[in-house]
Amino acid sequence: PEAAARDGKRSNFFSEQEAWEEQQIRKSRLHFGSDDGGRAGGGYELVLEGVVDFVKSTVQAGAEPDGEMDELAEAIDAKVTLQRELQDERKNLPVYKFKDDLLKAIDKYQVLIIVGETGSGKTTQIPQYLHEAGYTAKGKKIACTQPRRVAAMSVAARVAQEMGVKLGHEVGYSIRFEDCTSDKTVIKYMTDGMLLREFLGEPDLASYSVVMVDEAHERTLSTDILFGLVKDIARFRPDVKLLISSATLNAEKFSDFFDEAPIFKIPGRRYKVDIHYTTAPEADYIAAAVVTVLQLHVTQPAGDILLFLTGQEEIETVEEMLKQKMRTFGGKMAELVICPIYANLPTELQAKIFEPTPEGSRKVVVATNIAETSLTIDGIKYVIDPGFCKLKSYNPRTGMESLRVEPISKASADQRAGRSGRTGSGKCFRLFTEYNFRNDLDDDTVPEIQRSNLANVVLRLKALGINDLVSFDFMDPPASEALLKALEELFALGALNSRGELTKTGRRMAEFPLDPMLSKAIVASEKYKCSEEVVTIAAMLSAGNAVFYRPKDKLVHADTARQAFHAGNVGDHVALLNVYNAWKESGYSSQWCRGNFVQPRTMKRARDVRDQLEALLERVEIEHCSGVGDLGAITKAVTAGYFRNAARRQKDGSYRAVKSRQTVFVHPSSGMAEVTPSWVVYHELVLTTKEYMRQVTELKPEWLLEIAPHYYQRRDIDGHEPKKMAKGKGPAPAPL
Ligand code: CDP
Ligand code: MG
Repeated sequence: PEAAARDGKRSNFFSEQEAWEEQQIRKSRLHFGSDDGGRAGGGYELVLEGVVDFVKSTVQAGAEPDGEMDELAEAIDAKVTLQRELQDERKNLPVYKFKDDLLKAIDKYQVLIIVGETGSGKTTQIPQYLHEAGYTAKGKKIACTQPRRVAAMSVAARVAQEMGVKLGHEVGYSIRFEDCTSDKTVIKYMTDGMLLREFLGEPDLASYSVVMVDEAHERTLSTDILFGLVKDIARFRPDVKLLISSATLNAEKFSDFFDEAPIFKIPGRRYKVDIHYTTAPEADYIAAAVVTVLQLHVTQPAGDILLFLTGQEEIETVEEMLKQKMRTFGGKMAELVICPIYANLPTELQAKIFEPTPEGSRKVVVATNIAETSLTIDGIKYVIDPGFCKLKSYNPRTGMESLRVEPISKASADQRAGRSGRTGSGKCFRLFTEYNFRNDLDDDTVPEIQRSNLANVVLRLKALGINDLVSFDFMDPPASEALLKALEELFALGALNSRGELTKTGRRMAEFPLDPMLSKAIVASEKYKCSEEVVTIAAMLSAGNAVFYRPKDKLVHADTARQAFHAGNVGDHVALLNVYNAWKESGYSSQWCRGNFVQPRTMKRARDVRDQLEALLERVEIEHCSGVGDLGAITKAVTAGYFRNAARRQKDGSYRAVKSRQTVFVHPSSGMAEVTPSWVVYHELVLTTKEYMRQVTELKPEWLLEIAPHYYQRRDIDGHEPKKMAKGKGPAPAPL
């Protein structure tokens, strides 16, 4: 310290107080974004934080401070330059010119429909404008809903960056099982489903001054329900502002629904897009897509590529294929930076798609529908569109929902094409024929509410006290058949009584952010004294399908490791429990995960989910109890939720769903694939080449009568399958 006192400059650096003063001085010469009157969130929090970290680390490292001082200055300058650039970018967005008009319109009207091309700045800018204009005064918040988790997270991150604040402070996001907000949060991005849940705790959304239902054109199930609910609160809360924003033209429909609300159009800029079709239909669009990417890469001038696929598996396959091709071609081609993006992509990897493409290389973003309108990636000049997406479809007769790969609509195809013409003229390569486009594609995608199992929605609406579903204000009402089916299902689960009112079980179920069947299994675990186990299973089922992985060079090891969890043919549910418990035993070690070919990411997520479910157990007063080793109890609790998913083996080795009579198969990844017990209960059906049951556990048929006597009769379990009736066996012929 004495030496420091002698050397003014050194002491200046080593004392934090003085470092702060240094920052203040620097700050004073660094005014940026002054157009905003300094109200845009201050903008310095991150700059300062960087400096403090830097000072601390330098002090700890005992580094030579003289040179470090320059580095410090550089670090600050870099951050400031970034901020300045960001603020310039904000001003270049189409919405910026309309900021004042927009604020005036919002001030004047309670409900406003906002329409603007994707990328015009609706999602990232409007909440900031509202914040600057004082809508977050008096502790009120701005909600902005997104149909997709990834969009909510990445947009929040971007806005936090633009405002120079830490994500989770002034700007945060809330998605299922992940709340990144704090007391400070005033701009809250969230999935539409999360805002729906907030109605449970705060039916008038009193803490919000503005609710922006964004990406309204997507018409997700939750967005459609939100429409009805927010329209209602607008009536009795004159102080709340409602913004419905959409990327597409069909705004009149929104306006009609919201009592002729005015439409604010943000004129977009859209450059010319050349559309190319294939001359003949492509049998294998994955292979065709890979070839097209490489062709473009070799023949086309600079510009990034956006390729649309239907889901994670396809994306990973294509990523692998492209990497391999690039390896084969070695240095003969410019570098290709492959950026996948899909809903379950880990957060750390999401940021990569927004990073600028390195000089001399080309980026190819391989995305699901998420890049159609929810996310805008700058620099895209070429779009490759195979013309498919994964869509939920629902069969009201069987009550089964499944995800299917379906052709997209014309509206979707045009949106996708438009992604290439945002910053200059672009090209779109459709991997289907023009004839296909004109004659086979529907004009618009059917709203999700008309192709979904509604049990979850009905349960939530009932929990909000909305009993009369027939007169609920739907923009496009679901088929009454589907509503009826949902009521039946909830009745069968014991969530509703015969008058259609919520029961105590139903009230408890509604607290869990899970499918009603899974919530029911948890609620039932109280009775079977195994809530610990069932909550773990529920968490594992919710954490994603990728629990195990199989590296190509270690298939045998991976399979052996996996089989160990299935020892004793306990079934897939208990195997998941075994995995979790073994991981817990290891002290939640990632080393353990590697050794057992288990995805550490999935496990971490399962742990998070589990913590939250456990907290909810407390809230609904379900006792924590462990039925150590009692597999029967655990299977019964699972069956209490999933009794509808009971299937029986047939002679040919396939299974038949007991009630729906559908022919189904055990998924090859299941631990039961070789065991094939006569009766099983399954978690879900996935349709690939066949209808496969995923997560399968053996069941005793009598349990169905014990657990769901209102749903199964003896004849359901006795009635022998097509088997020719042996004499003396089988049901007696009915007396005439
Ligand atoms: O909502 P809208 O489609 O009108 O536009 P936006 O999502 O607000 O995007 C405006 C701009 O912000 C885009 O052009 C992107 O350059 C940028 N952005 C970004 O860099 N990172 C994000 N996660 C989201 C947007
Ligand atoms: Mg948007």
